[in-house]
Amino acid sequence: MNDLTNLNEPKSIQAIWTDSRAAGFTMASEPLTCSLLRTLAVSKPGGRFLELGSGTGLSTAWLLDGMDSNSRLTTVDNDERLLSILRNNLGEDPRLTVVCADGDEFLRSLSGQYFDFIFADTWTGKYRFLEAALALVSPSGLYVIDDMLPPAELARRARRKSRPPYFNT
Ligand SMILES: C[S@@+](CC[C@H](N)C(=O)[O-])C[C@H]1O[C@@H](n2cnc3c(N)ncnc32)[C@H](O)[C@@H]1O
Repeated sequence: MNDLTNLNEPKSIQAIWTDSRAAGFTMASEPLTCSLLRTLAVSKPGGRFLELGSGTGLSTAWLLDGMDSNSRLTTVDNDERLLSILRNNLGEDPRLTVVCADGDEFLRSLSGQYFDFIFADTWTGKYRFLEAALALVSPSGLYVIDDMLPPAELARRARRKSRPPYFNT
């Protein structure tokens, strides 16, 4: 079985990927990771979602694809150049709030709130302020992190891995 066939990626992915490549963005979440995010997102109807580290919106698009119409996603990144790609491709989705801010400060500002799903894909909430991030997860909520392998192992896997068509364009 090839996990990368019939991924049925969100419609916006091709355009986001094209823009990401043009911008030289190389930190996108892997398609299989994103597919898992979408599957997990389906399990939280009406959920409050938080993404730390939006990048250009690839993982954001997959999260939105799994969320129902009553769910809401806040995504934060400190790089407006990357966020402009996300806004161009996903900005019209009424479920989405895009924040350009330092992740550490933004996380602190959320103290006392609860989220049903947190995807931490930057330093904040993963390597820094882990306890603060976990305190935001509701009792039945999900906390998901990416890229926890040592950098050398990540690079080795990236070279070895086959990728769906949009990663190769
Ligand atoms: C691994 S990338 C996220 C990739 C994204 N999930 C995707 O699939 O495209 C990490 C992101 O964290 C952002 N970042 C780095 N330091 C940050 C900080 N202090 N506050 C907010 N965002 C930060 C970077 O700009 C980068 O876009």
